[in-house]
Amino acid sequence: MLKIIETVAELRQALKAHSNIALVPTMGNLHDGHLQLVAIAKQQAACVVVSIFVNPLQFGANEDLACYPRSLAADCAKLEAAGADIVFTPSVLEIYPDFDGIHLNQSMTITAPAFAGQLCGATRPGHFCGVATIVMKLFNMVMPQVAVFGKKDFQQLLLLRTLVRQFNLPISIVAADTQRAADGLALSSRNGFLSAAHKIEAAQLQQHLQQIVSSSRQGQVEFTALEQAATSSLNSRGWQVEYFSVRSALTLAVAGAEDQQLIVMAAARLGDTRLIDNVEFLR
Ligand code: PAJ
Repeated sequence: MLKIIETVAELRQALKAHSNIALVPTMGNLHDGHLQLVAIAKQQAACVVVSIFVNPLQFGANEDLACYPRSLAADCAKLEAAGADIVFTPSVLEIYPDFDGIHLNQSMTITAPAFAGQLCGATRPGHFCGVATIVMKLFNMVMPQVAVFGKKDFQQLLLLRTLVRQFNLPISIVAADTQRAADGLALSSRNGFLSAAHKIEAAQLQQHLQQIVSSSRQGQVEFTALEQAATSSLNSRGWQVEYFSVRSALTLAVAGAEDQQLIVMAAARLGDTRLIDNVEFLR
């Protein structure tokens, strides 16, 4: 039976008896990508906690916080079917105790490392500080032994691995592969914002990433040229590309000749919807 818990006090009480806990942090509007994280969490621990909290601290002033999709009843039904034990759905005040109804007043935050200022961080200042801070809070509340995150948000995954390492947290991070629709589109809570036509077009993001991978595998090493070609191709189809970038999959540094484990990452807008995706590959 799925337990729905809204307060930290009740959460701590419910978790007292458990020493083998896996946490899956989410912002809700759950899809099969999230549910795969729950399935992995179930393999890792006896008690699976899923948090659903749309975290204001990680949204910029012009971003979609107010209209971020919320579907708690449907989410709980999916989590019950997936076999999660606890869903933690706190209020903003529960997470940010100095919230005054307007300002979060979270004056202490986690400073994100330099790599978080690039890629998604370049167009979303403060985003990764907000992600690191909320995940640290959730870790402190749940005190899990394992936490599961998706590779779709690869920069976030590296950020959280860095958080665990540099703050000596006794938590193993498990990474899950990106779940996709049949046409390759990465599942995302924001896909529901796409019009029918844009939903078809959206698969082009993955196709353009795959094009860079196959060109690199055929020996092309001029990554900048490949990134520019993909960018102008998508822009000419009506997208607004934020970045295409080939990076080291280990450090997220711009890929150099010596790097073997690579990742090509992209973020682009289709209409008002911002999509991200990536493909890891070996050279
Ligand atoms: P959210 O976007 O809801 O994603 C929650 C988790 O699901 C993340 O680890 C994300 O990488 C993973 N995920 C999303 N789409 C996926 C897909 N198609 N395949 C596999 N995994 C997928 O990411 C966040 O929320 C927030 O930043 C959070 C970490 C909860 C902090 O607020």
